[in-house]
Amino acid sequence: MTHPTPAQTGITPGETAEQHAHFEARIARGEKIEAGDWMPAEYRRQLIRMISQHAHSEVVGMLPEGEWITRAPSLKRKTILMAKVQDEAGHGQYLYHAAETLGATREDMLQALLSGKAKYSSIFNYPTHTWADVGMIGWLVDGAAIKNQTMLAGCSYGPYSRAMVRICSEETFHHKQGKEMIVAYAQGTPEQRAMAQDALNRWWWPAMMMLGPHDADSPNSGVLTKWGIKLKSNDEVRQEFINEHVPELMEAGLTIPDPDLHQDEHGNWRHGPIHWDEFWAVIRGEQGLNKERLGARQAAHDDGAWVRDALQAYTDRQRAVAAD
Ligand code: ACO
Repeated sequence: MTHPTPAQTGITPGETAEQHAHFEARIARGEKIEAGDWMPAEYRRQLIRMISQHAHSEVVGMLPEGEWITRAPSLKRKTILMAKVQDEAGHGQYLYHAAETLGATREDMLQALLSGKAKYSSIFNYPTHTWADVGMIGWLVDGAAIKNQTMLAGCSYGPYSRAMVRICSEETFHHKQGKEMIVAYAQGTPEQRAMAQDALNRWWWPAMMMLGPHDADSPNSGVLTKWGIKLKSNDEVRQEFINEHVPELMEAGLTIPDPDLHQDEHGNWRHGPIHWDEFWAVIRGEQGLNKERLGARQAAHDDGAWVRDALQAYTDRQRAVAAD
């Protein structure tokens, strides 16, 4: 006979039903759980998993767009892109700090990323082929991220929820600049229109997938929902994303690459089948740019070794001076 795991029940050996009842009552009252509060070990584990993966996604997410800073077509677009990429670095910082409040160390989290043990968002393993990809990432990828993160701003863990509020306001700017850029190209020259359509053809399905597998195939959703970390399911967030973006893309004159797309009697846009084999292959690193992305992060980590060494030497000296 197999026993249910803590990931399935949420209860780790040594924890009592009373502790869980008290904890869940706090969540039901809408209280935020703070860093020093008692929490189930599985709540802590799930949050570290999710927040550190989210932090890695922000940092790896700088790579596909960062490649285009030197090739931006105007000074205006270049300064916008630089600000956006810099924002993503800041988001990574807030999120690593939020995970540190749960006892995770920066070294362990970075090691998990660089060794390939930790995941980061599938979307950032896709290549950026043209300048329009930068706009399409802003419109679709940040658009999908905002839907998910607005929900997470209401999550039960205080430090994550507060990080999300700031991140969402910055992501809103990222979303708007992407939409503005693509709408301009969609109404521009035939070459610009073709470039915008080609970018949509390549980013539509990956953006749909980045919101996670269907609810029936989402093993973490059960405890995340029970403990108020996820307030909406993967499919609910995906539906919100589609309902907002389909009419806007159509209004821009673009064609969504889904022959089965239609509106149901409730006004919801319904999509065709998603190729989940591709999603899992991309996550496993069998498809897309996983090796290149991790290689770039490893090189940045190695290049930064002297900064970490200098900081450590400075801290040691300050401590020695204080001890004197
Ligand atoms: N890319 C990589 N892995 C994914 C993705 C994705 N797009 N979606 C799901 N997975 C992984 C999960 O991490 C999980 O694996 P794990 O248990 O080994 O960690 C597995 O697939 C099964 O998925 P779920 O059970 O549905 O996972 P979960 O309940 O955590 O939901 C979701 C996935 C929605 C991404 C959630 O983790 C989340 O909201 N994370 C925080 C937001 C975030 O990370 N956003 C990334 C984009 S940020 C940006 O665009 C800058």
